[in-house]
Amino acid sequence: MSQRYEHDVLVIGSGAAGLSLALHLGSNRRVALVSKADLTQGSTYWAQGGMAAVLDNADTVDSHVADTLAAGAGLCRREAVEFTVRNSRRCVEWLVAQGVDFDRGPEQDDSYHLTMEGGHSHRRIIHAADRTGMAISEVLTERAERAANIEAFTHRTAVDLVVEDGRCQGAYLLDQRTGHVDLFQARAVVLATGGASKAYLYTSNPDGASGDGIAMAWRAGCRVANLEFNQFHPTCLYHPRAKSFLVTEAIRGEGGRLLLPDGEAFMHRFDERGELAPRDVVARAIDHEMKRLGADCVFLDISHRPREFLAAHFPTVMARCAEFGIDIAAEPIPVVPAAHYTCGGIVVDSHSATDIPGLYAVGEASCTGLHGANRMASNSLLECVVYAESAALHIEQTIDERDAPSPGRPWDESQVTDSDEDVVISHNWDELRRFMWDYVGIVRTNKRLQRARHRIELLQAEIAEYYGNYKVSNDLLELRNLAMVAELMIHCAILRRESRGLHYTLDYPQLLPEALDTVLDPSTGPHGRGRAA
Ligand code: FAD
Ligand code: SIN
Repeated sequence: MSQRYEHDVLVIGSGAAGLSLALHLGSNRRVALVSKADLTQGSTYWAQGGMAAVLDNADTVDSHVADTLAAGAGLCRREAVEFTVRNSRRCVEWLVAQGVDFDRGPEQDDSYHLTMEGGHSHRRIIHAADRTGMAISEVLTERAERAANIEAFTHRTAVDLVVEDGRCQGAYLLDQRTGHVDLFQARAVVLATGGASKAYLYTSNPDGASGDGIAMAWRAGCRVANLEFNQFHPTCLYHPRAKSFLVTEAIRGEGGRLLLPDGEAFMHRFDERGELAPRDVVARAIDHEMKRLGADCVFLDISHRPREFLAAHFPTVMARCAEFGIDIAAEPIPVVPAAHYTCGGIVVDSHSATDIPGLYAVGEASCTGLHGANRMASNSLLECVVYAESAALHIEQTIDERDAPSPGRPWDESQVTDSDEDVVISHNWDELRRFMWDYVGIVRTNKRLQRARHRIELLQAEIAEYYGNYKVSNDLLELRNLAMVAELMIHCAILRRESRGLHYTLDYPQLLPEALDTVLDPSTGPHGRGRAA
C-alpha cells in the first residue's frame, strides 16, 4: 500500500548539501531527509582533496575570487563567486563546530594544513588527509541522526516532484524495499541530489550520480543552464579492476609530475602552470597525448616524496593503489581522465531558490554561477555548505507564509505491470554511457554531437514507452533521468558555438568575445535556443 507523509521540509539528498541544509534548519521544523541508498552514499563521501577557503593570512578573498573567475573562463557570475568566497571561512568554522577534524599544520599553533590544487594561486585547501569527504559526511550524518526533528528515509528514490497551484508541494518517492511509490508532502522541497557524471562510461563518481534532481526539476518546469560543461578529472586510476577511483589533484599540488609512458614530462608544453593548470587544460593535454601516442594511459609520479609524507597525506590513494600492486612511493601511478563534475544544473538564485516557488536546489545539482565554464578544484564542497546555509535561511524566512500542501493524489499504478525484460534497461544504460563518452567527451565536433543527438532521441522514445508500461524500479528511474540530462547536455553543447572552459570543439576552436550562459527553458523544450541568463 502506498503511504502519504507530511513534513515541513523535504530534503532529497544526503550529501554535503542536503545534510548541511537539514542541520541549518530550526529544530522546530519537521524535516524528511531522503537518500537513494544509505545516508553516506553520494559523491561527498568520496571527496579526497578538500575544501577551498581563505584561511591563510597571506591569502585574500580577492585572490580566491580572481582564481575562480579565471578557471571559470569568463562565465562565472561574479556575485556568486564573491558570495561563496566571503562565506568560506565561516563555513569551515561551522564544519569544525559540527566536529569535522581537519588536518593541522606543522606549527604548534591552531593553524590548519592547507594544500594546493590546480588553478589556485595560494595554498587554501583545508582537508582531512585524502578522505575529506568521508570526514564531512560521517560527522554531518551523525549529527542529523541525533537531531530529533530530522527523520531519515533511506533507500528511497524520488520519482517526480508534485507541483500544484503554482508551487512545489512535495515529491513521489519509490520505496526500494516495498516497491511502492509514496507521496511525501512539504511546504518547502530541496533537491540536493548531486551531479550526472554517470552519463559517461568512465567516471570518478559513485553509482547514483544520475542527475535525478536536474531531470525532475526540468520535467517540473525549471530552467537548467550550462550543462555542456561536464568536468573531466585528469587523473583516475587506470587499472582493469579499479572502478571509479580518483587520484587526488592534491598529489600534483604536492609536486606530482605527469609523465608519458616513456617517462617524459609533458605538461609544460601545454601550459606554463604545468601540472597545476586548471583541470580542463590538464585533461585535454592528457587526452591529446594519449591519442597522439595511442597510449592507454599516462603516469602520475610522486615517488620522489618520502614514504612517510605520502602515508600521512595520501593514505587512501596509497592503500587503494597497493591493492593493485602499485607502490606510489616507488613507482608512477597509471592514470586516465574520467567524467567528474556537472558544472551546470538547475538555475538558482543566491538563496538556491529555483523557478518554482517552494523548490530549492543545492550543491552539484544546482547552477549558482560559481563555476562558470570550469569548476576550480575544491570549490564544490564549499558551494554545498555556503548555499545550504543560505537556502535554509530563506526557507526559515518564508515557510510560515506558505499554506499547508493540498490533499494530493496518490501514485497511480493501475495501468502498469511488472517488467519481463530488464535487459532493456541495462542495454540502454551501457549504450548511453558509451556514446556520451565517444561523442560528447573531452573533445567535441558538430558531427559527433549530431550523432549523439540522434542516438539520444531514439533512446528517449524507447525509455518513455518502457516507463509508461512497467512498474518503476530504481534502475529504470536512473536510466530515465540520465537520458533526460544527457539530452540536455547534448543540446547545450550544440548551442555553444565556441570553445570555452570545459567545452572544446574542433569546429569552433575560438573564444567568442561575449561570455553567455546556455539556458534551456522547458516551456520551449530542449530544442529551444540558448539565451544569456
Ligand atoms: P552528493 O554528495 O552526490 O549527494 C547526492 C545525494 O542525493 C545522495 O544522498 C543520493 O542518495 C541522493 N539522491 C540522488 N538522487 C536521488 C533520488 N532520485 N532520490 C533520493 N535521493 C537521491 N569536491 C570538492 O570540493 N573537493 C574535493 O576534494 C572533491 N573530491 C571529489 C572526489 C570524488 C571521487 C568525487 C566523485 C567528487 C569530488 N568532489 C570534490 C566533488 C564533490 O564531492 C561533489 O560535488 C559534492 O560532494 C556534491 O555534493 P552534493 O551534496 O551536491 O551531492
Ligand atoms: C581531487 O581531490 O582531486 C578532487 C578535488 C575536486 O574535485 O574538487
